[in-house]
Amino acid sequence: MSNRLAERNSEISSFYVMELLRRAKQLETQGKDVIHMEIGEPDFPTPPTIVDAGIKHLLTGEVKYTAAAGLPELRNKIAAFYQKRYGVTVNEQRIFVTPGASGAFLLAFGISLNPNEELLMADPCYPCNSNFATLFGGKTKTIAVDASSRYQLTARHIKEQWTSATKGALIASPSNPTGTLITPEELKQSINTVNTLGGCFYSDEIYHGLVYGTNATTALTFSDDVFVINSFSKYYGMTGWRIGWLIVPDEFIEAAEKLAQNIYIATSTQSQYAALAAFDKNTLVELENRRAEFAARRDFLYDNLLRLGFEISIKPEGAFYIYANCKKFTDDSYQFALDFLEAEAVAITPGKDFGSYEAHHMLRFAYTTSIAKMAIAMQRLDRFINRG
Ligand SMILES: Cc1ncc(COP(=O)(O)O)c(C=O)c1O
Repeated sequence: MSNRLAERNSEISSFYVMELLRRAKQLETQGKDVIHMEIGEPDFPTPPTIVDAGIKHLLTGEVKYTAAAGLPELRNKIAAFYQKRYGVTVNEQRIFVTPGASGAFLLAFGISLNPNEELLMADPCYPCNSNFATLFGGKTKTIAVDASSRYQLTARHIKEQWTSATKGALIASPSNPTGTLITPEELKQSINTVNTLGGCFYSDEIYHGLVYGTNATTALTFSDDVFVINSFSKYYGMTGWRIGWLIVPDEFIEAAEKLAQNIYIATSTQSQYAALAAFDKNTLVELENRRAEFAARRDFLYDNLLRLGFEISIKPEGAFYIYANCKKFTDDSYQFALDFLEAEAVAITPGKDFGSYEAHHMLRFAYTTSIAKMAIAMQRLDRFINRG
């Protein structure tokens, strides 16, 4: 065995769903009509207004590095967005345009986490966030959460689990994989708790635009002493453009500026020019239509999964996922996902990609495909669970 690999590699988890994706691709090359309900990105293309703005800039030929923190106009628009959408004032100097929320996390953890310091996160949660902490030598302590706290960490969890090794807590609302939101009161209490304990509070708000029948509250409503991570990937339909943003507490501005210069110099220039159009009225009309479509898909999928006998303890109010309990059919949700793909050509994500608590009973269904396709997927699921 080679010992040239860094030891940390063994601590970085890979996605089980990649195995399903590999097999799904094989099935497709064999002519099978695979329905993809595993994918965590919108099936809609980037809105044309955004694409046009990107192309227009490319055609100027002036595709040079921008300032490390991002185009001042874009930071300005992001600040204006916080004012308009949430009624909060954010000093633009605290806003850093990043290569997606992923880049925002690298920057946030890079400037705030020391080796061996620990972060509290929910189980289930989006696994990359924990792997980013590992990359910087940090540790994550995952806390099993269930429907009683809307699958979110609470102030009580934070207090109970905090030790001298703990540096902070991360909350993702709406959550991936559960689509559930933290209540504003719980968010406030959690932030207060972390602030009182002298730690860092990280709020992953990447699914904020995609919320149905309620509103998401930004952590900035309650404190300026928080890291807020957001992105143009999901609501704005720009996954492949790799652009997001990070808002840091005042004392981290200088460090963020310095680290951003070093780790990626600047976020893709054409993506930043494209994103300038993301807040335009015409773009928002288009995005709101898409949000309505996602809401209808959520309802369709929710009703059908319940009808088929899956358990969903809370109707999700955001993102584009339903995290369903399949214990009526199996004690091995990963095998269930593999067998379902093999038998019926529908791809879904097994619970163990998001943690270990009850993961063997859980499956994540993404409604990133049309109702027409999901209707076929549900017929196939019905046939699969009722096979002889
Ligand atoms: C909860 C959560 N945070 C962050 C990300 C990273 O998103 P991106 O880097 O595309 O902005 C994802 C992507 O699926 C996610 O689900």
